[in-house]
Amino acid sequence: MSIDTLLEKNRAWVERHTSEDPEFFRRIAGTHKPRFLYIGCSDARVPVNTLTQTGPGELFVHRNVANQVVPTDANLLAVLHYAVDALGVTDVIVCGHEGCGGVAAALHSGAPLLVEHWLAGIRTTARIHADELDAQPDEKARLRRLVELNVMEQIHNLSRTPVVQAAWERGAELRIHGLVYGLEQGLLRDLHVTMDGSVAAGELRRAG
Ligand code: CO
Repeated sequence: MSIDTLLEKNRAWVERHTSEDPEFFRRIAGTHKPRFLYIGCSDARVPVNTLTQTGPGELFVHRNVANQVVPTDANLLAVLHYAVDALGVTDVIVCGHEGCGGVAAALHSGAPLLVEHWLAGIRTTARIHADELDAQPDEKARLRRLVELNVMEQIHNLSRTPVVQAAWERGAELRIHGLVYGLEQGLLRDLHVTMDGSVAAGELRRAG
């Protein structure tokens, strides 16, 4: 597929929408009030709008290799701050996916240097949960579990950011959810690790 094909597909998409609803794009352009912030992996096989059947304006999106929430990542923090404080997002989703190359790379050595640096947090998670990972029957199961543990870790990282702590302290409605996407089935799975403001901010800090 060439860039020309992409542009053609885009024109066809515009035509499809405007033929059904001439005001579609003007309406979308007029307001930006997404309810969800989605933090996911850059993997091309996890197209969040497609797999959740959401359209323009519904999801605020941040993606990086292996869906990391690194507490010093200015890019992520700016996205989070804008989403929570300016857009009033009420639900933040961290979504991992099965067969994640970034997570798999953290189980082995030999990733490109900068990727290796980026994945340091997952290596720490793998070390903390080494016993559980070693007890898995095979490599596929180990990766599957580390994908889940990685999502849970990122949720904890998110919960400790000043943006989320401040939102919870002022009583704002804000939930953080952990999901995993199954590449081979196309299904999103809820890990049921949702966090909200009911965990006292101070308590969280001490627990951290
Ligand atoms: Co991935």
